[in-house]
Amino acid sequence: MAKRKTKKYRYRHKLPDPAQRQRFRRRLLSWYRRYGRDLPWRHTVDPYRVLVSEIMLQQTQVDRVIPKYEFWIKRYPTFETLSKARLRDVLRAWYPLGYNIRPKRLLAIARKVVSSHGGQLPSDEVTLRSFKGIGAYTVGAILSFAFGQRAAILDTNVARVLFRVFVGRGDYRSSALRRYLWQLSETLLPRRHVYDFNQSLMDLGATVCTARNPRCLQCPMKLFCVSAPRLTSRVKPS
Ligand code: ADE
Repeated sequence: MAKRKTKKYRYRHKLPDPAQRQRFRRRLLSWYRRYGRDLPWRHTVDPYRVLVSEIMLQQTQVDRVIPKYEFWIKRYPTFETLSKARLRDVLRAWYPLGYNIRPKRLLAIARKVVSSHGGQLPSDEVTLRSFKGIGAYTVGAILSFAFGQRAAILDTNVARVLFRVFVGRGDYRSSALRRYLWQLSETLLPRRHVYDFNQSLMDLGATVCTARNPRCLQCPMKLFCVSAPRLTSRVKPS
């Protein structure tokens, strides 16, 4: 009985083979070259700017983040300038994004980076994780976007894309699947173009493989996505 359970688990959660991985990467990257969004934080690899954008994007939609990001970078262009600011002013500058724990943590990170790391954001996972406000997703984003490292990401959008394409039924937000989805994100990472690959996963989740009413007919994965037959049967062609 126990044996059967293990077998079933392994079968349902096996990782894609090299040909499937390659197909996924190629299709995603060529889709991104055509349809990827031009967002202000994609014009930089400055660790400070990447960190600011990722903290803002943790709980706020892209459209609302764009003007605030641009304003913030003008007002506090570096860790150094932010570290010298008063909390009261930082909170005012953050308004109206909400979830005010984020600017408090950003300020604390800036002060720590200046006082203990010579003004440079560390590029190792363990130190990054030790900062409050930087979780597993944000570490992957910083390492891949700012430091060019081959680091995977998994946020809600990415989890939904990978779950739909490779797993199918169930709940992509369940903790039982989380480990597997992280593994999947790591396995799919290409050797090169990691920056574009991770950004494109997020764009696919945000613009095509959306939580409600996914646009399967426009999806680069529609021919091999295991969820497409079920999802497209609900989609009305526009
Ligand atoms: N959400 C979180 N990080 C993002 C990014 N870099 N681009 C777009 N959406 C995001």
